[in-house]
Amino acid sequence: MAQTKQQQLDAIKQHIIDDGICNELAEQATQLVFGDGNPEAEIVLIGEAPGKNEDLQGIPFVGASGKFLNEMLGMIGTKREDVYITNIVKYRPPNNRDPLPDEKASFLPYLVEQLKVINPKVIVTLGRHSMDVLLPGLKISQAHGRPIRVKDHVYLPLFHPAAALYNGGLRQTLIDDFALIPDIIKQIKVIT
Ligand code: URA
Repeated sequence: MAQTKQQQLDAIKQHIIDDGICNELAEQATQLVFGDGNPEAEIVLIGEAPGKNEDLQGIPFVGASGKFLNEMLGMIGTKREDVYITNIVKYRPPNNRDPLPDEKASFLPYLVEQLKVINPKVIVTLGRHSMDVLLPGLKISQAHGRPIRVKDHVYLPLFHPAAALYNGGLRQTLIDDFALIPDIIKQIKVIT
């Protein structure tokens, strides 16, 4: 019998462990933070890497940025359980340092597999780290809030909620950009 999407995602998670991806990070982390939400989601959101709370709970975006993200999901009439949330790097970098280019590159094939399984209508990159690997060459200051179709997927690059949390101007920009998501999905449904 064909595997469910959840079973396929579970297999990708196991491959990351079996393949020993970023063992140095893994040794310092509490656990792998693979992803959370609905495997049938129309929206996938991709952040940078787990922070302290995410590392402890094994779930992405459960700290302050996650609270803000949940609020923005509410503003567009959706909830966490309806979307799927993950990160480009799936172990917490020590002291929350930026993920290194080779760490992002190591996790990329697994993220691509995750996206293939879920096959969402729109892939939202949060911040420059996930944007850089999926949409190389873009500048977040220019690309944010502009949907872009690349091969099989439509992407929407957005600022990272952590960057916007304490910066009033950026916060409103992120909220305004986030509000575009329902229309983007509607338009995709019209043309497909
Ligand atoms: N920031 C991220 O990019 N990802 C998380 O999971 C939490 C905070």
